[in-house]
Amino acid sequence: MPASKNDLRLVDLDEEGVDKAFRADVLQGLSEAQKAIPARWLYDDAGSQLFEDITGLGEYYPTRAETEILASRGAEFAQAIGPGRAVVEFGSGSSVKTPLLLSQIDPAAYVPLDIAGDFLRASAEELGAKFPGLPVYPVEADFMRRVELPEAVADLPKLGFFPGSTIGNMVARTAVDLLRTMRETLGESAKLLIGMDLVKDPAVLVAAYDDACGVTAEFNRNLARRINRELAGTIPVDDLRHEARWIDDFARIEMHLVAQRDIAFEVAGRRFTMAAGESIHTENSHKFTRRSGNAILLAGGWTPVRRWLDGEQRFSLILAEASIPRSAP
Ligand code: AVJ
Repeated sequence: MPASKNDLRLVDLDEEGVDKAFRADVLQGLSEAQKAIPARWLYDDAGSQLFEDITGLGEYYPTRAETEILASRGAEFAQAIGPGRAVVEFGSGSSVKTPLLLSQIDPAAYVPLDIAGDFLRASAEELGAKFPGLPVYPVEADFMRRVELPEAVADLPKLGFFPGSTIGNMVARTAVDLLRTMRETLGESAKLLIGMDLVKDPAVLVAAYDDACGVTAEFNRNLARRINRELAGTIPVDDLRHEARWIDDFARIEMHLVAQRDIAFEVAGRRFTMAAGESIHTENSHKFTRRSGNAILLAGGWTPVRRWLDGEQRFSLILAEASIPRSAP
């Protein structure tokens, strides 16, 4: 029986314990002309750990840049956001960023949302210990859908917190859908504090997604390992090379797994082939300008009101307000 009205069908396993959505996405994705698998499947336990490792790499500036902004602009956040809000974090977790925000804005409650229940409860507990007076209400939910927030925060004004430039993992259409869904989840008079990584020298971007130590390569290849492990796959992982490509027209980094020779393999009883040079597209990471960031927020029903950058102007944190729908200029 579902534990709450939010977590219906969070993970749907078949008789053999296989995640049906994972299998469906992989089989469908490997059947397309440009093979592509949704990036969310990169984050199993091993993948989440590898991403943590990535955030400590010299080349991977986004985490450091965003943390710098949060650590240095506390008084401005407090002034712009105001006290007494329920902070709703989309994809809870980050042990560093969230306390930096919460300690500066005098919130009334903290509501971390995450699809990974174990991780969610662990980080909620950690947060609760750091802020003894603050009510914490973890909600296990897929935030891509409208979430029913706990009764206890129903009457509080909300601040959505969506750090990490995770919005950049989505193509514009999906990003706009999510922003609109967030607006519904958060209600009237909500604000949103959202991290957006900025367009910059492609060499810097490519290095951030193809580090010299090969941690990002392992993060990417882990997806193939996960397919082999969970979907009875025979992908020759060592014949796949990690590649990070800057696609200027779409202002995004794409991660690919590129076959180094002609290969054939099975996944869940189905046979696939890849010619040498052919790739599986595994992640998009869109980068924004001031205008493109504003445009996507406005399309999603949010009016940007303030913007902060790190000292090297690599990353932005934007505060937006739920816009009042209007049809006239
Ligand atoms: C967690 C989605 C923000 O796109 O920068 C890091 C994931 N992928 N290195 C990003 C990622 C490769 C990261 N996000």
